[in-house]
Amino acid sequence: MFKVGYFQFHPRFGELETNRKTVFKALEPVEADLMVLPELPFTGYTFRDRKELAALAEDPANSESVDLLTSLCRRNRIYVVTGFAERSGTRIFNSSLLIGPRGLLRIYRKIHLFNDEKRYFDPGDLPLEINTIRGVRVGMMICFDWVFPEVVRTLTLQGMELLCHPSNLVLNYCQKSMLTRCLENGVFAVTTNRFGLEKRPHASLKFTGGSQVVGPRGQLLVRAPSQRRQLQIVEIDPKESRNKSLTPRNHLLRDRRPEFYR
Ligand code: ACM
Repeated sequence: MFKVGYFQFHPRFGELETNRKTVFKALEPVEADLMVLPELPFTGYTFRDRKELAALAEDPANSESVDLLTSLCRRNRIYVVTGFAERSGTRIFNSSLLIGPRGLLRIYRKIHLFNDEKRYFDPGDLPLEINTIRGVRVGMMICFDWVFPEVVRTLTLQGMELLCHPSNLVLNYCQKSMLTRCLENGVFAVTTNRFGLEKRPHASLKFTGGSQVVGPRGQLLVRAPSQRRQLQIVEIDPKESRNKSLTPRNHLLRDRRPEFYR
């Protein structure tokens, strides 16, 4: 069995130190295999422009956020997937990091940018790939990537069993839609959303919470309230995702007809 969870909270815009402390305090007592944090949990989301984002983004090779999570992973012997505003030279990506007791294991850079993100982030440029953690094949996508079913399918075709999905959702469609995404691929998914109103002089956004863990037959295993902090851990059997047979004669992957999908 494998213990996965989410930590849903309300990051404070631009307050990296406060947000790091909130995350550390929440995860400090956690006993689990893998915890998933929201998209951009340290910086907040509603940037005025690229300059403001650049001032808050971090290079993962020299990042207090990464160092903090690495020490936490080492201490508690856990893995963490977190959203991350990533500076890489002159480029800035909306990224997700997989971190373990030995440090950073993988970076995923959001390939489908949502709305105003296109004004200040560079679109992701890394392939979708999976990692094996304690025998479980894990993949990552970020928030709005859910609208493009190709993302989960691509990861599933590589053998992914568990999807980690840091999010800052402002619409209400995703939580319901992820049940279908999991069913059609036969995978587990942890969607970690934030909540709260982010009020900036140029714009305000309200995030929808409802973080959740979904099973490979589209079962909702646990879901957070819309506007409250919550840390939840559930025990899953990742092997369940290896059964791709919906009926004795229907296999989710082998029954595909890619020759018709052009
Ligand atoms: C989103 O992709 N943050 C909606």
